[in-house]
Amino acid sequence: MTWKKDSWKNYNIKQQPIYPNAIELQNTLDKLEKLPPLVFAGEVRNLKEDLTKVSRKQAFLLQGGDCAESFANFGAVNIRDMFKVLLQMAIVLTFAGGCPIVKVGRMAGQFAKPRSSDYEEIDGKKLPSYRGDIINGFEFSEQARVADPKRMLEAYYQSATTLNLLRGFANGGLADLHEVHRWNLGFLNKKELANKYDALSEQITQALAFMEACGLSSHNIPSLRQTAFYTSHEALLLPYEEALTRVDSLTNEIYDCSAHMLWIGERTRDVDEAHVHFLSGVKNPIGVKIGPNATAQDIIKLSQALNPNNEEGRLNIIIRMGADKIASGLTSLYKELKKEGLNIIYSIDPMHGNTVKAGKFKTREFEKVMQEVRMFFEISMSEGFYPGGVHLEMTGQDVTECVGGSFNITQESLNERYETQCDPRLNADQALELAFLIADLVKKARV
Ligand code: PEP
Ligand code: CO
Repeated sequence: MTWKKDSWKNYNIKQQPIYPNAIELQNTLDKLEKLPPLVFAGEVRNLKEDLTKVSRKQAFLLQGGDCAESFANFGAVNIRDMFKVLLQMAIVLTFAGGCPIVKVGRMAGQFAKPRSSDYEEIDGKKLPSYRGDIINGFEFSEQARVADPKRMLEAYYQSATTLNLLRGFANGGLADLHEVHRWNLGFLNKKELANKYDALSEQITQALAFMEACGLSSHNIPSLRQTAFYTSHEALLLPYEEALTRVDSLTNEIYDCSAHMLWIGERTRDVDEAHVHFLSGVKNPIGVKIGPNATAQDIIKLSQALNPNNEEGRLNIIIRMGADKIASGLTSLYKELKKEGLNIIYSIDPMHGNTVKAGKFKTREFEKVMQEVRMFFEISMSEGFYPGGVHLEMTGQDVTECVGGSFNITQESLNERYETQCDPRLNADQALELAFLIADLVKKARV
């Protein structure tokens, strides 16, 4: 069947809301189709080029952000702090890891959530599950949980203003390497981590002073004062993605202009179903989450469907097996995939396979997260694959959602600042600490 932007409707589809008012849905989609694209095809091509470097072991992918963005927590401070902590991590990885970092936020569109159950039950009351702010409301009430198409417009405008600020930060001064001290978020209470970051900032500042003395400054070297920052989200809600899919007037190629990169979740990656079909027709770099039960055949088929020409920089397989399952799961995948010669960027999401319940909270142990990352690097290297990136749920805020790390957040302190509307995120310090730990691994992997 030939691909059209609405041909996904001929396929089985999972994890979609039921909109009670079909006319309102259609009117909203008609509006969305007329609104400008959020990203430009040229930017998406730049990302693909950057990812091509990752697939050649010349760069490393850092992808991170909220599990779910929300309308309630939308604001400049949250966007700025997420941007800052991602820059901090990137500079740690660049400096200690010794290679360029491709920065991709789970931001400016990460609203739709797959759920393990269609319903949620509290104290005997059963309501449709929360599916992300682009679909319905978080509040546990009948009214909030009705799927409302107008939320797509709000998500679109929030994404547009988020992108506007991100572009400003990336090109307008905040990303200047001379600002490296100012990316610090001030939560660094743990002396050891603070000292490490200060020492690194100091080295960078000295290197910049030396370069300046040689005539190389932000004025004549644009890459010292600006950076490339890309956006991504799970392409789950296909009516929304379809409405933002456009033909690039320069190349006549088709791009999903809701974000630079889109990914398919573990629950919707069936190769014969709608999500894979839809994304097979757009030119953006595509990620696919891969859990512990995936087979090498699944990955081969996904690669045939999503990357039939075996292009570099197109397909990112995001491993999320859990610290206890990755050893057997990933080793056997790699053993079979070795002979295939597929151009795939492998990265690790050490969050989704390591979620546990602590009382009423979902949490993740920092040590387990780090353990899965370490094992991902070890297994990849010993099987002859390049561990090309990390994919994290994190925030620039000082939340208490994951336990462990330098601050040693305990199960008892989870309720102090547990703010996520979905999965638990690493806080700014835990994210930075992780970056320091990963930097050494990246360095080894590139040798
Ligand atoms: C996510 O990234 O938030 C997510 C739901 O992941 P997965 O599809 O891997 O479960
Ligand atoms: Co999540």
